[in-house]
Amino acid sequence: MPQGKFITGIYPGSFDPVTKGHLHLIRRASRMVDKLIIAIATNSRKTPLFTDYERLEMLRIDIDNMLDKGCDIEICSFDGLLVEFAREVNSSCIIRGLRAVSDFEYEFQMTGMNAKLDPDIETLFLMAADKWQFVSSSFVKEISSLGGEVDEFVTPQVANKLNKKFKKCN
Ligand code: PNS
Repeated sequence: MPQGKFITGIYPGSFDPVTKGHLHLIRRASRMVDKLIIAIATNSRKTPLFTDYERLEMLRIDIDNMLDKGCDIEICSFDGLLVEFAREVNSSCIIRGLRAVSDFEYEFQMTGMNAKLDPDIETLFLMAADKWQFVSSSFVKEISSLGGEVDEFVTPQVANKLNKKFKKCN
């Protein structure tokens, strides 16, 4: 990163719900920038299980509990284009995680389209650590909805909220 420049990074996503894989990436990204904005997309093509408010609250609790943050972390929702949001918050650095090869095509297209919409905004990728390669919010929801345990993949407060959504008694 260039010396003397204040860098705000944006980590966008659906976070439906936040997983330990997301948290690991947030921790790493927070060491690379001066400020990290976690941006929850509210107009995603996906129909979320959790409301915008629930997703924001779950992230807020997990970030508050994160001991080794490298920088200021802010959590916001946005409902328009990601590049427009990036411009609004004066950021030219989008950070995304990459897991298996299957993520690549989608991320490649999204990065290309975002670059067409605003060539001044760069997307940086961090490879997911081995431990979190296969963890996704979608699988966590499916496992939980079918009665499986998700404690390994999400924090206890998120596991509780999933249990409540799927009306499992502890
Ligand atoms: O966690 P996800 O669902 O993979 O995140 C996808 C997200 C939210 C980053 C993407 O859908 C997005 O940027 N949505 C905002 C709308 C937008 O800018 N669309 C154009 C993308 S080229």
